[in-house]
Amino acid sequence: MNSVLVSVGAALPKKCVLNSELPAHLDTSDEWIVQRTGIHQRYIAGEDETTVSLATAAAENALSKGNIPPREVDLIIVCTATGDYTFPASATLVQRNLGITSGVAFDISAACSGFIYGLKTADCFIRTGQARCALVIGAETFSRIVDWNDRSTCVLFGDGAGAVVLKASECDDKGLVYCKIHADGSLANLLTTTGGVSISQNSGFVKMNGREVFRNAVEKMHCSLCDLLKANNMTVNDVDLLVPHQANKRIIDNIVEMSGLNPEKVVITLDKHANTSAASIPLALNEVSLDSCKNVVLLSMGAGFTWGEALLKL
Ligand code: COA
Repeated sequence: MNSVLVSVGAALPKKCVLNSELPAHLDTSDEWIVQRTGIHQRYIAGEDETTVSLATAAAENALSKGNIPPREVDLIIVCTATGDYTFPASATLVQRNLGITSGVAFDISAACSGFIYGLKTADCFIRTGQARCALVIGAETFSRIVDWNDRSTCVLFGDGAGAVVLKASECDDKGLVYCKIHADGSLANLLTTTGGVSISQNSGFVKMNGREVFRNAVEKMHCSLCDLLKANNMTVNDVDLLVPHQANKRIIDNIVEMSGLNPEKVVITLDKHANTSAASIPLALNEVSLDSCKNVVLLSMGAGFTWGEALLKL
């Protein structure tokens, strides 16, 4: 049994904010942000938009593109660090919004690596016969947990949601043929929040050692790519599309240069979306045509540290 990708969907908040439209008190500039990160704009959730509303819209979009009735879905995983409530899980609220009353629904917290953690988890459910049709959704409203007085972090993030539908298939050479996830908690302090429910009774704000995060991101994602290629007896030339976590264009450029991959095969959406954490990979997948692709590689890394790599054969 294998998990095949059936469809991809996405949802973005209505409001788009250009670098030049960021609050004046930040003392930043379009030039600085573009040069250091590649980000030109981000979408910011309005009062009527939340992680669950974006996740629901992305899920509906993916289901409708795959022509799948919601009642077929028996597993919903929402990958998020910015859920609507402490509990219930955002996934159960998405389930309710979709009108589904059976199956399994839960959230995964692995920060920016959440989506690959979600894919791996859904794949385990499918391979062991516990699910046949899974919605894996990355959804975030990071604008609600960044410190809008800290220019070194708030300019980097955006809001949005992306969703994929995975189905069980007997076809072993297609689908999620390889997926590995990793963690190293000794690096937890490099990228964290200033609080949390049990520490401060609030979510706290994003706090980051930018340089160290940058260095670890390049090292770990490059290593992930090399391991994936080796394990699957592939070279970079066999990769049709690389969809890396969209945090910083310079991180991606470093990985591409170190690996010798043709830059034209790399999907970049951070210029439009900024870093949408767990939503960045499915949002990027939704922007490209997968029609002529056979081997699609996904790479992620996030707070924890957590990281992961996946090979989708289409
Ligand atoms: N606008 C203008 N200046 C800014 C700024 C902003 N938005 N943010 C920081 N600066 C300033 C700093 O205050 C510093 O000034 P100083 O030299 O007077 O002290 C200067 O720019 C350089 O800061 P530095 O942190 O060394 O810049 P950098 O080249 O390392 O770039 C990041 C900063 C955050 C863009 C970079 O470290 C990064 O992208 N790290 C990884 C972040 C990431 O991807 N996190 C999510 C992972 S999932």
